[in-house]
Amino acid sequence: MKLFQNKEELQDFVLEQKRSGKRIGFVPTMGNLHDGHLSLVKLAQAESDIVIVSIFVNPMQFGPNEDFDAYPRTFEQDKEKLDSLNTDILFLPNLDSIYPRGKENHTKVEAIEALTKKLCGASRPGHFLGVTTVVNILLNIVQPDIAVFGKKDYQQLMVIKRMVSDLCMPIKIIGGDIKREPNGLAMSSRNGYLSQIEKDKASHLRAIILAAQKQIEAGDTNFRSLEKHAIQQLTNDGFKVDYFHIVRQDDLESAKESDSKLLIAAAAWLGQPRLIDNQEVNLERA
Ligand code: PAF
Repeated sequence: MKLFQNKEELQDFVLEQKRSGKRIGFVPTMGNLHDGHLSLVKLAQAESDIVIVSIFVNPMQFGPNEDFDAYPRTFEQDKEKLDSLNTDILFLPNLDSIYPRGKENHTKVEAIEALTKKLCGASRPGHFLGVTTVVNILLNIVQPDIAVFGKKDYQQLMVIKRMVSDLCMPIKIIGGDIKREPNGLAMSSRNGYLSQIEKDKASHLRAIILAAQKQIEAGDTNFRSLEKHAIQQLTNDGFKVDYFHIVRQDDLESAKESDSKLLIAAAAWLGQPRLIDNQEVNLERA
């Protein structure tokens, strides 16, 4: 695996590969890699000839009371994991190469509020502005043919798809399925914050989402009452619920009876850590 820290050197390398007809795949990450990230790398490998993974903990997408300083930095382990998959390139930009004039003094890229202000955006103001800005910078540096993002951050995936489409960026955005722990907990770089007891409890979030899915697939279209019931169950289980919404997959608007491509999306705090999870539900409608 080749390592690049310098963006100009990476760009020269990518240009050379493209000239020789290679298709470039890109997986942007913030490091602390787990099997979920590795599955995204495998997906990129299946769709391209050269795979570039970036690790950059982006300060712009963390709120003032969030965990930017505490966010786990595990470079040696990450490198080993990527090496074991024969990843071609690891890109490790520093803060100055992403925000040369400081993050406050940098052009921002803002996606539409209809996608960014709801669900996670409602309790994390500014988060998606930080995500779309850094993803734009990274995509412009790497200029990949395809880029892969995990479906655990479903809203992020939809926001990025929309930004890439609106800004006519010639990149195919691919969503990778969620990887889970044996107890159902969605893999996340932040799961390390959970104690074993919390990890066991965290699996209830998945169970409650699956119960709602079962109800919907059995024909229950009273989505608002399913949401209310799930929130009550999570609260009884000791979660502080941020949201539990049944929405449409494409625009994340509240789902209506006639919709068939649904997403059950939830976020809840278990002690300090905030967990998110979701499940796509695809109904056959006559
Ligand atoms: O999903 C993430 O890890 C981050 O939000 C991303 C896409 C790498 C941007 O910093």
